[in-house]
Amino acid sequence: MRKKILVQQGAFLPKLEARLAAAYDVRHLPAPGPERDRFLSENPTQGIEAIATSARFGVDAKTMQALPDLKVISSFGVGLDTLDLDEAKARGIQVGYTPDVLNDCVADTAFALLMDVSRRITEADRFVRAGQWKQAQFSAATKVSGKRLGILGLGRIGSAIAKRASGFDMEVHYHNRKPVEGSPYTYAASLKELAEWADYLVVASAGGAGTKGLVSAEIIDALGPDGYLVNISRGTVIDEAALIDALENKRIAGAGLDVFEREPHVPAALLALDNVVLAPHIASNTHETRAAMAQRVEDNLAAFFAGKPLISAAT
Ligand code: 8YV
Repeated sequence: MRKKILVQQGAFLPKLEARLAAAYDVRHLPAPGPERDRFLSENPTQGIEAIATSARFGVDAKTMQALPDLKVISSFGVGLDTLDLDEAKARGIQVGYTPDVLNDCVADTAFALLMDVSRRITEADRFVRAGQWKQAQFSAATKVSGKRLGILGLGRIGSAIAKRASGFDMEVHYHNRKPVEGSPYTYAASLKELAEWADYLVVASAGGAGTKGLVSAEIIDALGPDGYLVNISRGTVIDEAALIDALENKRIAGAGLDVFEREPHVPAALLALDNVVLAPHIASNTHETRAAMAQRVEDNLAAFFAGKPLISAAT
C-alpha cells in the first residue's frame, strides 16, 4: 500500500509534484490559515506519515498536533524559520531539508546583487532603455575589487560568498555568535565592529527569532554613507523601516535585496529608490539548483520510508 503523505499546496514545481504523486498517496495541504484549519478538521488525518513542504511555508505546531501519525517532514529549502523544530523534536518527528545543494547559487546571487548595486548595472539598464544615453553620460559607479567584505553568518552559504570574494581581491571579515575554528577570515567580535569596517555587509545568517532585527538602525549607520548592504538570507534579519530611512537619507550608499520582511510585499518606498536592486527571492532559483533541491526532498522521504537515516536531517 502506498504511504499517505501531505504535500504543501503550491510549494513545488509540477515535476516534483508528479513524482511524489507517483510514489505516494498524496493529499494537498493548504497554506497555513483558515483553509488549512478546515482541511485538517474535515479530513481523516490518521495514517498520514509525512509532509512535503518548503522553506516558504514550513509547518506549524498546530498542523503537527493535528496529525497523530506524522513521523517525517521533508522541506524544500535550507531555511527552517517557518518550521516549528521544537514541536517536531518533542513529537519525535524527523525533519529533512536541502542544505549544501544551493550554496553556489545563493552565493552567486549575493555577488550579483553586490556587483549590481555597486556598479549600478540595473540603474544603467534603466538609463539606456529610457533613451537617456543620447542626452547625457551615465555618472560614475563604485569600484568593487579590492574592497572590504563583511559577512554576517559564516556558515555554508557565507563561506561560499567568502570564497567568491577572493576573485575580486577583497579582504573578508565575518561575524558569527562564535569564531569559526580554522577559518582563514578575520572574526569581528560584534556586528557593529564588522559594519564599521566593511564596505559591503552581506547578510547570510539564518532567519527566525534569534536573528530578528539584528541589522538595526545602529548597524546600518555603522556601515555608513559609503557602505552597501546585501541580503540573501531572510528579510526579518534587517530592520526594513530603518533601512528605508537610511537609504532615503543617503546614510548608506545602497542595498541589494533578495528577501523582504513580508514577502511578496515590497514597500513602495523601496520601489521608488534608485540606489537599491530588488529581486523576488530568487537566490536558489536556477534550473540546476531547484532540480537538486527537489531531488533531496524526494530522497529524504525515500530514506525515511526505507528505514534509513535522512540524507540531510535538521537537528
Ligand atoms: C527557496 C530559501 O526560495 O532555501 C531557502 O531557505 O529561502 C529558498 O531556497 C525556498 O525554499 C522556496 O520556498
